[in-house]
Amino acid sequence: MRRFLIETWGCQMNVHDSEKMAGILGPLGYEPTADAGLADLILLNTCSVREKAAEKVFSRLGQLRGLKTLNPELVIAVCGCVAQQEGEAIFRRAPYVDLVMGPRNISRLGNLLEEARREGRSISLARDEDPIPLPASAAARGAGPRAYVTVMEGCNKSCAYCIVPFTRGREVYRPAEEILAEVRELTARGYPEIEFLGQNVNAYHHGTDELSSVLRMSDRIEGVRRLRFTTSHPGHLDRRIMDAMRDVPSVCNHLHLPAQSGSNRILRLMKRGYTRERYLGKIDYLRRNVPGIAFSTDIIVGFPGESEEDFTKTVTLLRDVEFDQVYAFGYSARPGTVAADMPQALPEVVKQERLRSILATQEEIQTRRNSALVGRTFEILLDGRPAKEGTGLRGRTTCNRIVHIPSDATTRDPFLTVRITRAHAHSLSGEPLLGSRAA
Ligand code: 5AD
Ligand code: SF4
Repeated sequence: MRRFLIETWGCQMNVHDSEKMAGILGPLGYEPTADAGLADLILLNTCSVREKAAEKVFSRLGQLRGLKTLNPELVIAVCGCVAQQEGEAIFRRAPYVDLVMGPRNISRLGNLLEEARREGRSISLARDEDPIPLPASAAARGAGPRAYVTVMEGCNKSCAYCIVPFTRGREVYRPAEEILAEVRELTARGYPEIEFLGQNVNAYHHGTDELSSVLRMSDRIEGVRRLRFTTSHPGHLDRRIMDAMRDVPSVCNHLHLPAQSGSNRILRLMKRGYTRERYLGKIDYLRRNVPGIAFSTDIIVGFPGESEEDFTKTVTLLRDVEFDQVYAFGYSARPGTVAADMPQALPEVVKQERLRSILATQEEIQTRRNSALVGRTFEILLDGRPAKEGTGLRGRTTCNRIVHIPSDATTRDPFLTVRITRAHAHSLSGEPLLGSRAA
């Protein structure tokens, strides 16, 4: 038996891609190990969305070099977005790498490993012609309760800062029957929560099917308790999807809707294709139609040319929407993107200062919003234990809030009704209730 280790950076698509790779390796006679020292094959599934993430790959490779000296048979593979972006250059920078594979080439992993053994090296970077290649049910998924299902690959947008359209290629969509078959299989295997994945998931369409119809059809499958989808683009979030959030019982009342900026001038420079007002219009429609809906967002601070005034508009956007969670990033220039050549790059200290300010604002908003939930009752889906052993259980509400409960009550049903007892900025504490209905 040979052993493999996959290290994953980046978004949910990458997490699921790693599951697909593991699913390919199993039948080839590999078993997983958590110990790099014992591995015969190490795959780094990488992210290049910001420079820091991309550079981490090379420092990790530097560490792995020693293992390769000890065990020359060790195969080191670089996969994911850095692989796609850097290509052959990876061999030049880290000559001990054996295999480079872009995110649209996962179905070739078996052949590529053979080729690397035979010829010492292999590389596969086809980007556009490779459709969604796998029977995705072949993915080796984690223990649950949530299972990812790819509905589309790639992104046809051209946001000025973003490397993703270069690394993941043009959009392709899976037939709805294939998606539904996978949902059926997964719920039968005991995954109560399904998360549909696509870089621009709202753009999903195939024949007459679209995301809203896939949500409606999935809801009717036995065993489907919760449906989520990510990542949404505000420009593609149409009424039909929003109405599905209102009408389809299993669709969770949480939406991750990246705003990126609150300034129309910056949104235009970013080529995002919507205004602050249109963004707020969608939030407003959902708040009026989906009771208790929670919103999270992504924010980039320090985009080239972002003035104090532009930045203030992002802060007021946070206050206007009152997001339940915000992921904020300092702008990072990515090679080949339009924004990388824009004048007026901002100094790192300004970006860091703005980042701190966003996080402080959001911390205050979140603490206030979470405090208002104390005393309320929710249904949570248990999704694992907190970091420290013996400290209780952890679950998520449909609005994606993490709730810790003190008891170690073992229950066969992963759904539990809890009353919120305490609020923190990033999670809630609760106590299990028996025999009462969740809000
Ligand atoms: N610099 C900083 N953040 C970025 N993101 C995407 N590209 C960049 C970049 N060049 C952020 C966006 C996106 C999230 C996944 O990463 O906010 O929504
Ligand atoms: Fe990047 Fe825009 Fe595509 Fe999102 S929608 S991945 S931000 S190009």
